[in-house]
Amino acid sequence: MTDRELINKARDAAKYAYAPYSRFSVGAALECDDGAVYTGCNVENAALGCTICAERTAICKAVSEGRRRFVRLAVYCGGNDYCVPCGTCRQVLHEFAPTIELLCARGNGSYVSYRLTDLLPAAFGGEFLN
Ligand code: THU
Repeated sequence: MTDRELINKARDAAKYAYAPYSRFSVGAALECDDGAVYTGCNVENAALGCTICAERTAICKAVSEGRRRFVRLAVYCGGNDYCVPCGTCRQVLHEFAPTIELLCARGNGSYVSYRLTDLLPAAFGGEFLN
């Protein structure tokens, strides 16, 4: 799958965003090592802290169906800024895919790519607990 195709899946997933409070719709598309893709959108809540980001929706969908090896994640939101994962989502991604490639797209479809290691250096992981 091309970067563009994965970003398009993230863009399509943003259409399902439940974001009545922020009115900021986000979509994510998470690619597994076998090419399967799991999408997600942000799901807000009146108790704002209960909100779940698009990236974590996608990760939880995938993990709950037995997937744990991820190679790329596209994130899309409308607007002029490239949509980068929040700190919590970076940490959750680190659990499963510490070197995953991130495609961070904006409204006009252009994107920048990062490695998670660049966005979450010196991360805390399971090895600290062993
Ligand atoms: N949000 C995401 O879904 N992913 C991000 O990477 C950044 C923020 C959501 C959470 C909330 O519903 C809205 O965007 C505004 O913060």
